[in-house]
Amino acid sequence: MSKVFSVITQKGGVGKTTTVNALAASFTKLGYRVLCVDMDPQGNLSFSVGADSTHLPTVYDAIKGSYKAQSCIQRRSMTDIIPSNIVLSGAEVEFTRRKREYLLKKAITPIKELYDYIFIDSPPGLGFLTVNALAASDFVILPMLPDIFSLQGLVQVYETIEHVKLSCNPDIKIAGIVVNRYNKLSRLNREAFGTAQMVSENLSIPIFKNFIRNCPSITEAQSLQCNIHDYAPRCSGARDFYKLSQEIIDSTQ
Ligand SMILES: Nc1ncnc2c1ncn2[C@@H]1O[C@H](COP(=O)(O)OP(=O)(O)O)[C@@H](O)[C@H]1O
Ligand SMILES: [Mg+2]
Repeated sequence: MSKVFSVITQKGGVGKTTTVNALAASFTKLGYRVLCVDMDPQGNLSFSVGADSTHLPTVYDAIKGSYKAQSCIQRRSMTDIIPSNIVLSGAEVEFTRRKREYLLKKAITPIKELYDYIFIDSPPGLGFLTVNALAASDFVILPMLPDIFSLQGLVQVYETIEHVKLSCNPDIKIAGIVVNRYNKLSRLNREAFGTAQMVSENLSIPIFKNFIRNCPSITEAQSLQCNIHDYAPRCSGARDFYKLSQEIIDSTQ
């Protein structure tokens, strides 16, 4: 049975999609069976892995129940994916019935035995789609940039997860905070990292010791729809995500 991870923050541009994409490729390279679920109507992850989100069924169809989740899976070289497109943005107003926070969980439960790891990418914000991702997950990964706005957001994310714990998923655990785009030569980055460590201690949220350095190859690989390990296997981004994968495997046994 797979372990399900969602990657969430209320801010955009922090590295959620990048983290899902790179972790999925790392875990596949390590020999695991991996599925990604794109829960962001912007469909950035779907684009990055070269999925067709125009002509084939998407995660919207899976949560609506018009297609089985298994029929929405597309095989790509470095991961399987259930893609997303802009139609998903209407889901919050369309699905109003009771227990609507369990729609994704219900959709993916039958395919969980096919994978070792499932990674869910989520939109910015802590609304309906993110809560669906959390309700379906065993673990949460919280990417943050080493800056003051990301720090401010941490407490809000923590409160959302606590709310989800009480209301729909008591077993969910925070796997950890991933500090992304870290530059150890920047004083501001070092200070923000130090403050993040204090906040994490106060809230009892672990911070992964392997952070992700700023690495231009990450953006280049995404725009070419290539994963970082094939595009530039020796770049800092590829190495950092490998180490992070190992840390995630070890800490979520
Ligand atoms: N470690 C990194 N080094 C360089 N660029 C990065 C890094 N992480 C993310 N990016 C870039 O930052 C932008 C936002 O990242 P993305 O993963 O799309 O954020 P989110 O999904 O949280 O909105 C993208 O252009 C991505 O390529
Ligand atoms: Mg994204």
